[in-house]
Amino acid sequence: MTEYKSIITNHKIEKVKLHVNDLQTGMYICDLDRPWRETPFPVLGFEIDNNQTIQEVMQYCQYVEIDVDRSRVEDVVINQLPPGSIFNVNGSSFQLDEIETAESLRKQTTNLVNTFWDEIRYGISPDIYLAKSAAQECVASMLRNPEMMIFLVQLQSKDGHRGQEAFNSCIYSLLIGHLLNLTHKQLQNLATSALLHDMGKVLIPEDILNKTGKLTDEEHSIIRTHSQAGREIILSSGSLSLGTADVAYAHHENLDGTGYPRGLQGDQLSMFSKIVGVVDKYDAITSTMPYRPARDHFRAVYILKYLARDKKIDERLCTMLTTYLGVYPPGSIVELTSKEVAIVLNSDPSRRHQPQILVVRDKHKEPCQRFVDLTEKSVDENGDTYRIAYMHRTGDFGIYPNQYFTLILQSIG
Ligand SMILES: [Fe+2]
Repeated sequence: MTEYKSIITNHKIEKVKLHVNDLQTGMYICDLDRPWRETPFPVLGFEIDNNQTIQEVMQYCQYVEIDVDRSRVEDVVINQLPPGSIFNVNGSSFQLDEIETAESLRKQTTNLVNTFWDEIRYGISPDIYLAKSAAQECVASMLRNPEMMIFLVQLQSKDGHRGQEAFNSCIYSLLIGHLLNLTHKQLQNLATSALLHDMGKVLIPEDILNKTGKLTDEEHSIIRTHSQAGREIILSSGSLSLGTADVAYAHHENLDGTGYPRGLQGDQLSMFSKIVGVVDKYDAITSTMPYRPARDHFRAVYILKYLARDKKIDERLCTMLTTYLGVYPPGSIVELTSKEVAIVLNSDPSRRHQPQILVVRDKHKEPCQRFVDLTEKSVDENGDTYRIAYMHRTGDFGIYPNQYFTLILQSIG
């Protein structure tokens, strides 16, 4: 069972950077955003024992790092994230050349994964090591501008396309890895692992992968072989780490031991397998599958929370992803109280309910195009409250956010 134990199996998350507004009693502060000597706090760190301590920390610091293992809290809930890692407070701040570069990277990466599939199916050994270079580029882009990369992923139509799935998982995984303060090298390994985690599906017959009806038990069994097949493909390359093979092997395991193929539990799973396990589920739920339409973000968050509560997936990693994405992530299709329908573009993290939007259907559901910043517009022309009322699924009213990509680029360039 431990033959292919990951090189990161024993990796522990030690520190998480938090805004002081997110501090809770029981958290153990191990680092500050200023020299300890400029504060009255003990240099070896300290536990927050009451709200008074939180108030004192707020007087000196904006961000602190907490030692997760030494903290006595059930969840680290992050509402306000560190600077440079999250949306700029001013909202749309992407440079046109930046997003064009990112879009080019997305296309190259998805094409690379698609090429791997084609080569394997034609009996050609792919140069899987190239995934490592692509992963490095993804890490660099995420570190430069994570909000833009998430924006890019969220805006795509999620149709179960293998290359796009791999890219989505890579970017969502890097988001969590970034929030966990993983090192650059760890992020590169995580990105490579996420990009290749589902490669084993290449050996599953297309008629099973694309089946629109209910799978038989035998077909389920065949699909489940993709974990081991993926591990073997990665190992056969001879150029990637055991950790990458381990993620392919273990990304369908559950913390409670009910997953497959080995029924591993909790600490038997590497942190990277847990991360990819969470993001793979989020992406699958919000993607169109042959046997069901895509589900909206609300539904995905609900399902993930349910899975976390039942100890199928890691609750803290789940919370990191869903908290970052917020209530209305970019690319969401929302209906306003005015009956107009819009695509969410971007939002200030402190005002997640008031994003910038592109209205694409008027109140009669006729096509239109109008940019609105809900932080600036609180009432409609009739003086009625102007806010988001519902979330719809991609494709509702014939709206696919990626069709507006050029227009959106122009608006933020
Ligand atoms: Fe999978």
